[in-house]
Amino acid sequence: MIPRQIVEFVKSKIKKQYEIDEKEIERIFFSYAIKDKKFMDRVVNGKIEGFERLSSFKEILKKTKKEIYYNLRQYKRNAEQRKVLFKKLKRILEKEGISENAIKIHEEILCTHISSKERIDTYPFFYDRIFEFTGKPKRILDIACGMNPFSLPFMKLNDFTYICTELKQEDCDFINSYFKIISKHINVEAKAIRLNLFDLTSEEFGKKFIEENDLMKFDVVFLLKDIPVMERLRKGISKYIIRWLPTNYIVISGSKKSMVKGKEIKKREERLIRRVLNELNLNIASKIEFENEIVFIVKKNNHSYR
Ligand SMILES: C[S@@+](CC[C@H](N)C(=O)[O-])C[C@H]1O[C@@H](n2cnc3c(N)ncnc32)[C@H](O)[C@@H]1O
Repeated sequence: MIPRQIVEFVKSKIKKQYEIDEKEIERIFFSYAIKDKKFMDRVVNGKIEGFERLSSFKEILKKTKKEIYYNLRQYKRNAEQRKVLFKKLKRILEKEGISENAIKIHEEILCTHISSKERIDTYPFFYDRIFEFTGKPKRILDIACGMNPFSLPFMKLNDFTYICTELKQEDCDFINSYFKIISKHINVEAKAIRLNLFDLTSEEFGKKFIEENDLMKFDVVFLLKDIPVMERLRKGISKYIIRWLPTNYIVISGSKKSMVKGKEIKKREERLIRRVLNELNLNIASKIEFENEIVFIVKKNNHSYR
């Protein structure tokens, strides 16, 4: 383990420069630190005096900052691109309704987030396959949803409720402005709520969050590609996320290929998801394989916090 003092030093340095979640700083810093044997051998043995002057530490910090800079730049670019596409979508929906053109713009917005981009060829039948098993839901919760809300037209549902959560308020505001325009064409009651999944480690927070947002009961909860990512950020976090889910079915997925490098990761993701579900005594009721994604359907039948 890397001593806390070092981690706190890195976080304070980076937070002076960038507005970024602390967990994300830790994840990126750890990913470089563990690859540096010289640095790890020294600090794990407790020799931390003067660590900030070590050339290995300086190099790790430099790489961490560089990755954060590129990630934030990419996020900004994607957000700007989305805003332009959204204006177009608004115009087309007003003129043509959910036409072919409108679907094309939905797809372009979905492609501004790597997770939904990878699902793009699958969307036309993605939900059909899932709802074949769960039945057509009336209430859906989509956790850490990314840009997935822009796949609403692919759900082919009518008269339903769709609630989603994301980490950044800015993303929730963007998604909520979409809900405003799409609800004129699809009979859906939808809203996006800001939620940092790490806050769910507090039972008190979880209960309050459910009550305040009226999240008592769902037919299906989506945890698409979230569990592997969250477990990498903090091992063991999944039980806090899953235990509160007030739902009949949970749809959990993982990637088959790594999102950035394209490496085969299906086995690793499946192992991780199965371990998490085992620890929670939850059984997989169905497994669906798509080209780029492996989906597990879990029957929970539990509408209370446990
Ligand atoms: C792998 S993506 C999956 C997105 C979406 N579920 C999908 O499959 O299209 C993970 C999502 O988790 C969100 N996220 C990351 N850390 C989070 C946190 N601490 N709390 C809530 N959401 C978080 C990210 O913003 C990102 O959109």
